[in-house]
Amino acid sequence: MSTDFLEIPEQYKIDTLLHQKTYLTNGELIEWKGETAEVYSTISSTSEYKPTLLGTIPQLGEKEALEVLNSALSAYDKGQGSWPTMKVIDRIACMEKFVEQMKTKREEVVKLLMWEIGKNLPDSQKEFDRTVDYIYDTIEAYKQIDRDSAKFEKSDGVYAHIRRGPLGVVLCLGPYNYPLNETFTLLIPALIMGNPVIFKPAKLGVLLISPLLEAFQNSFPKGVVNVIYGRGRVLATPIMHSGKIDVLALIGNSKSANALQAQHPKGNRLRMVLGLEAKNPAIVLPDADLDSTVDECIAGTLSFNGQRCTALKVLYVHESVVDEFNKRFTAKVDALKFGNPWESGVKLTPLPEVEKPGYIKELIADALEKGAKILNKKGGVVTDNFISPAVLYPVNTGMDVYKEEQFGPVIPVIPFSDIEEPLHDMAESNYGQQVSLFGKDVKTLSPLIDTLVNLVCRVNLNSSCQRGPDVYPFTGRKDSAYGTLSVHDALRSFSIRTFVASKDNEYNNAILKELLDKKTSNFISTDYIL
Ligand code: G3H
Repeated sequence: MSTDFLEIPEQYKIDTLLHQKTYLTNGELIEWKGETAEVYSTISSTSEYKPTLLGTIPQLGEKEALEVLNSALSAYDKGQGSWPTMKVIDRIACMEKFVEQMKTKREEVVKLLMWEIGKNLPDSQKEFDRTVDYIYDTIEAYKQIDRDSAKFEKSDGVYAHIRRGPLGVVLCLGPYNYPLNETFTLLIPALIMGNPVIFKPAKLGVLLISPLLEAFQNSFPKGVVNVIYGRGRVLATPIMHSGKIDVLALIGNSKSANALQAQHPKGNRLRMVLGLEAKNPAIVLPDADLDSTVDECIAGTLSFNGQRCTALKVLYVHESVVDEFNKRFTAKVDALKFGNPWESGVKLTPLPEVEKPGYIKELIADALEKGAKILNKKGGVVTDNFISPAVLYPVNTGMDVYKEEQFGPVIPVIPFSDIEEPLHDMAESNYGQQVSLFGKDVKTLSPLIDTLVNLVCRVNLNSSCQRGPDVYPFTGRKDSAYGTLSVHDALRSFSIRTFVASKDNEYNNAILKELLDKKTSNFISTDYIL
């Protein structure tokens, strides 16, 4: 697919390069004078195609990785640091200070989201706004957790004051498709629960963190937020080998998660919060409303060019409706507008990974060789930074496009006659995040729903798969996740219950009373945060 080169609007032009010259450790933005790496966008600034240079980032080494680890360890100070022991209300105040400053950086971050990962303007704005909302919702959820713990329980003559405490130092790694939102859904709850964090931005979507560095620096005590730049292997390996990371928080793929986990010398000490790959299917039953089903499948397969872990990555369509579905679906796929992210109405945008069009082409070639056809006219047409979405039919389980998480614009359609076929495939699959189920007859739907909830963790009835609303649990089975993220669940995932117990006797009760009256402990408190 090709498009005419449209002049870039003034406000989105890259006039000056962003040279990220510092990294954040021990509360200081340290100037880096060593090796740097250039950051390119696959979007061209000229009518003749040429990737656009956006700026540079430091390439830190092992020495700096260990320096940053020490910064986080000092901030934690074996649980005695000011951050892990701080009053909840004071930690919340730091977070509020941060988010207020973050809001002023919306335009810069949105512009970089478009250039760095090719996300269209409305979705880039949504990513930013959703992240700000997530921070406010997290603050409210934490206040509620705190209010619920502002009490004493008593059982078998023992009083207990139970709260949630931090776990220790967190290594936080996010993905390129939501370099702000998904990373912050790990970073923010980890921080607010009292854990210092070492954060390495994703390889793509890295410069957009720069506008927030000063806010990180001035909102939190020194060493609580540490931001490093460089190659994952160079930096994460020594950090994990040290055995001093308490939590690995990663949204990415299971291969990286397994490799990092294996580097920790004491696996039993490492807690993990992982959002991993998925291959969410849609199942279209004979009585599905085809108009809305097609619309949902378009959004599910092709929002952000299919580069979402929650994307619909395989469509099972009942053989009695598959021809009609394919006809309507392919027409809508080919009608989607391709262009640069700031152009009005664009749905398909340049792919940020240089090698992605080639990879998608290989998946298509493999499927064609094994008997599938490309159903849509524009399917598989390659330009410099894009491959037009191809609808492949009929796909079978022997094809690579069935087995691999394509994470891009190619859509396998599988016809089925017996519902046992998709159910069997899902049970055999390595993934178990979500499913979209399209149909109406409750007699058919009921047993299906009862099975599907045990194969995945969210059954979307007549709608595409998605993470939001963020108050709902976001998790998965098998290779798709470890732990649960929602506003509330994330706070639990990054903390542990810890409590003070005291036998009910005059001696202890007098001490507890004095602790409460004098408000000398940050932990023991029955005050309500409103
Ligand atoms: O890449 C996976 C994201 O969690 C998807 O979030 O469903 O809101 O696009 P989303």
